[in-house]
Amino acid sequence: MNDRVALVTGGSRGIGRAVVVRFEELGARVLAPPRAELDLSDPASIDGYVARLDTPVDILVNNAGINPLASLGETDDALLAETLQVDLLAPFRLARALAPVMAGRGWGRVVNISSVWTVVAKERRLPYIVGKTALNGLTRAMAVELAPAGVLVNAVAPGFVMTELTTQNNTPEQIAAVAADMPLRRLAEPYEIAELVAFLASSRNSFTTGQVLVCDGGYSLV
Ligand SMILES: NC(=O)c1ccc[n+]([C@@H]2O[C@H](COP(=O)([O-])OP(=O)(O)OC[C@H]3O[C@@H](n4cnc5c(N)ncnc54)[C@H](OP(=O)(O)O)[C@@H]3O)[C@@H](O)[C@H]2O)c1
Repeated sequence: MNDRVALVTGGSRGIGRAVVVRFEELGARVLAPPRAELDLSDPASIDGYVARLDTPVDILVNNAGINPLASLGETDDALLAETLQVDLLAPFRLARALAPVMAGRGWGRVVNISSVWTVVAKERRLPYIVGKTALNGLTRAMAVELAPAGVLVNAVAPGFVMTELTTQNNTPEQIAAVAADMPLRRLAEPYEIAELVAFLASSRNSFTTGQVLVCDGGYSLV
């Protein structure tokens, strides 16, 4: 990743933080703006951030996401719109702005952080499942369009990862039960997801595009 410029959203903690650390180890120059600089819930903030960039971006990692727990009946229009804005429309908006520059330079990588909840489902995850499943579609649509220009687009779909998102949305008992049922008998650490993201975002990935790579310790198999 030497001399590559990477923009990672949600780099303050969790998986995003681990991606920032791994990319920097691999020699990338990482932009990880705090929410005050890039608020994904606000299209004007996204446009303003892109307009202020003083360098072409080679690698975009759409990592930030929200997962407000809600069933069909609990999902009002505002909650759905808010979730889709952060989980789907913000990645779309960033990619639409940055991918043409990657294509013009003949090299680029986009990695979208999806979820195992696009492969299997769970109750009270409706807004999140809708947004992340559409993100998989965005990944495939962009991959086909951008491949001729040397821009590879993939998604990583983590299962349970030990982050604040997981501890907020699951009780300690639920987490213990998930670990007991998991083929690997534990949850992932953020760096284990970051390693796969780093491969997909690097020059070592030269032929994988349009894929949703599930990284879930075997959770979705059983
Ligand atoms: N943890 C899991 O088990 C798991 C499993 C599958 C998929 N994922 C996905 O992996 C990604 C990272 O998850 P995580 O567990 O690391 O999440 P996390 O610990 O909750 O961190 C979320 C990150 O997103 C940022 N963010 C949220 N809303 C934002 C907004 N409006 N504008 C800018 N930044 C915003 C947060 O910034 P602040 O610090 O400013 O709040 C934070 O950096 C998400 O897309 C999530 O859906 C996670």
